[in-house]
Amino acid sequence: MNRPVMEGLRLNVPAYVHHPRLVEWVAQIAALTEAADVYWCDGSAAEYDRLCEQLVAAGTMMKLNPELRPGCFLARSDASDVARVEDRTFICSEKKEDAGPTNNWKAPAEMRALLQTGENALFKGAMKGRTLYVVPFSMGPLGSHISHIGVELTDSPYVVISMRTMTRMGKGALQVLGSTGEFVPCVHTVGAPLEAGQKDVAWPCNPTKYIVHYPETHEIWSYGSGYGGNALLGKKCFALRIASKMGRDQGWLAEHMLILGVTNPAGKKYHVAAAFPSACGKTNFSMLVPPQGYEGWKVTTIGDDIAWIKPHADGRMYAINPEAGYFGVAPGTNEHTNPNCLNSLKRDTVFTNVALTDDGDVWWEGLTDTPPAHLIDWQGNDWTPAIAKEKGTKAAHPNSRFTVAATNNPVLDAQWDDPEGVAIDAFIFGGRRSTTVPLVTEARNWVEGVYMAATMGSETTAAMAGGNGTVRRDPFAMLPFTGYNMADYFQHWLSLGEKLASAGSKLPRIFCVNWFRKGTDGKFVWPGYGENMRVLEWMLGRIEGQAGGAENVFGTSPRFDDLRWEGLPFTRDQFATVIGIDKAAWQEELKLHAELFQQLEYHLPAELPATKARIEERLNA
Ligand code: GTP
Ligand code: SPV
Ligand code: MN
Repeated sequence: MNRPVMEGLRLNVPAYVHHPRLVEWVAQIAALTEAADVYWCDGSAAEYDRLCEQLVAAGTMMKLNPELRPGCFLARSDASDVARVEDRTFICSEKKEDAGPTNNWKAPAEMRALLQTGENALFKGAMKGRTLYVVPFSMGPLGSHISHIGVELTDSPYVVISMRTMTRMGKGALQVLGSTGEFVPCVHTVGAPLEAGQKDVAWPCNPTKYIVHYPETHEIWSYGSGYGGNALLGKKCFALRIASKMGRDQGWLAEHMLILGVTNPAGKKYHVAAAFPSACGKTNFSMLVPPQGYEGWKVTTIGDDIAWIKPHADGRMYAINPEAGYFGVAPGTNEHTNPNCLNSLKRDTVFTNVALTDDGDVWWEGLTDTPPAHLIDWQGNDWTPAIAKEKGTKAAHPNSRFTVAATNNPVLDAQWDDPEGVAIDAFIFGGRRSTTVPLVTEARNWVEGVYMAATMGSETTAAMAGGNGTVRRDPFAMLPFTGYNMADYFQHWLSLGEKLASAGSKLPRIFCVNWFRKGTDGKFVWPGYGENMRVLEWMLGRIEGQAGGAENVFGTSPRFDDLRWEGLPFTRDQFATVIGIDKAAWQEELKLHAELFQQLEYHLPAELPATKARIEERLNA
């Protein structure tokens, strides 16, 4: 193979790399960014350890107390780089209509000028003084027919170690690629070139940020951020935005969904995929511990954030988790809310933006009822309960996270890595709504289910920059992640259902949930977490035709006696508060659905306004 050698820069291509197009592309990006060096990641443990040491030496991470948290690190980001930046995220399709009204759009040529080709293009010289890491990865099990390969070029060693945990990263992915395999090229820079002799900062980043996708050519370019979904490009950028577009073209789905297995005492196992918006309970639900009264039941995790779902020849929909790790929300995680998660975090975890205890352990709001007397907060400052009370500062950032391998999860499903995936029995959609939306409703058919998912609203969270609790429409929990026109995405869901149904397949049931309804005291009424098992059992009962319910304006909900209450003191009044449909509130809600449909008018499937009209009729009857 011809190995290009660039003037003044060695590409350092390892002997096991046999893909000329990949090497050529690495050479191009190295030249564009003027990287000081190129390093090809093999994905080994030794490489991971070495990079962690390097990150500690650079001040990006610190080692936690090895007695308390063996193999664990704490990273602190820049205070300006703490969450996904939706207003800086672009879908650059050739036509604006193909990005649709819910995505930021720029013409590809214009964006390329800005990033790559223009006189002051942002990527020009962006890696000066830094190493360009070549990070080959597989989304999904290595070699599975459902999986896809990506290669991320990044100047952030923090991204490299995170990608090793979150994906199947390294030599194995290159082997799958062979000499001509297809890969999604992902270019990432923190946008902080170093001039000769310039000292680096602990968390380099740039106030200017661009998270850019070219859906037609399957390319990703990310500039200026080193945090989470902005920078780990296999996750939201590839596995959701680019993959959703691939799925539309090829007849499958890429969704913001957890996947869980649930086994009843008789040993029958079901698989459920659930879409909740960012920081609305996917990780929690995927690791649920069945409560008192559910002896003999078992919930196991296949994935906690993303599902790739493909129809099979047997007419069922099979899901895989394309990821290999969890990048999960730390605050609120505790012995009661998610013990399995807490157990996953005992070793070999990178924590980002949580607080540090005096004995070298981690803490975050909600970990314990009583906070430690003294902490170092996520910005490196002294923190005491008194300071918190006076200034209102949080010890951990509300979007602080852990990065941990799926294999650390004590309830990891035996099939989590199965290249065939698992057959889905039900889809669940759930927003964070303090009012209006009932605890659980089953759609009477596929179209009504798609309607529920399409019109879902949720209060925004700290997972996005600027998230402040205001309600917005978040169709399918995919508002920030659909890589094409949202109305076309609705049509894709409708068409897939129609196609499977007309072939005689039994479609997964669709449910809508809301764990977050609040009482007049401002507190959550539904106890949530493990108790969500009661709702899950009702759903399985519906699938089996055994659980009862009552029809309301937009579907079927359980009556008090349709749920099992053993082990939980929950009154009929409390239940009425979380299940009730308030006519006036729903009239207001439907106005918001109308606004959404107006925004998405272009290509909006006619079934959706027709469904809305039927709901309105029932509501006003
Ligand atoms: P992303 O990783 O951002 O996509 O989020 P996620 O959906 O995986 O969120 P996660 O499971 O980490 O949810 C985090 C937030 O939801 C925390 O504030 C939890 O306390 C809260 N939460 C999760 N489940 C429940 C529940 O059943 N009831 C209530 N009240 N809160 C919940
Ligand atoms: C989300 O925001 O939905 C996440 C975290 O899962 S991030 O990877 O940062 O997008
Ligand atoms: Mn997510």
